[in-house]
Amino acid sequence: MTNAKNIKWTASQISPEKRAILLGQRGCVVWFTGLSGSGKTTIARKLEEHMMSAGHPCYVLDGDNIRHGLNSDLGFSENDRKENIRRISEVAALFADAGLIAITSFISPFINDRMKARQKTPEGSFIEIYLDTSLEVCEKRDPKNLYKKARKGEIPDFTGISSPYEPPENAEIVLDTGKLSLENCIGRIIDYFHENNIITKKD
Ligand code: ADX
Repeated sequence: MTNAKNIKWTASQISPEKRAILLGQRGCVVWFTGLSGSGKTTIARKLEEHMMSAGHPCYVLDGDNIRHGLNSDLGFSENDRKENIRRISEVAALFADAGLIAITSFISPFINDRMKARQKTPEGSFIEIYLDTSLEVCEKRDPKNLYKKARKGEIPDFTGISSPYEPPENAEIVLDTGKLSLENCIGRIIDYFHENNIITKKD
């Protein structure tokens, strides 16, 4: 849906196949979802580092970072989170269309918003990774001291405490970072890339 009138969509002359040959990979969106403190940013950054050293162009879109710029007008109400995810899913889909591996790291607590994000990319190019790490573990880690504040009532609408998180039912990959090492998690994701022809160049 667009409000603009008199605009016309034009298709690229460069096919996804041509980009895939040039880049040695199929553009895709790797969508991390999970509670704050579940390890999204850590795994996303490590994955980016690993992929880039192997010659695969990718880029991390991270919740805290994007909220400093593009989405600095948004807070944590249900509507603001929805808009946060809507904008990021558009950006991620553009990156994927450009042939990149777009790695997103957002709590993205609502099933419906993640489903809409999935629908913006071609079949097979949206890889949802659910960090199924318990609230107990996330709260124990509390790397930003936010759970402590939320428990004291100092942060309203805090995910897992005073705002809901809807877990995915059909994520492509599920990882419990309370049980798996960082290396194990990265290994599982890279295996998935190979098995599903995301990576087409031998490395
Ligand atoms: S989302 O729900 O809209 O997807 P997003 O991933 O962008 O959230 O931002 C979450 C980050 O914002 C958390 O990692 C945390 O650092 C910070 N944050 C600040 N307030 C809240 C809150 N009320 N709920 C969750 N995270 C919050």
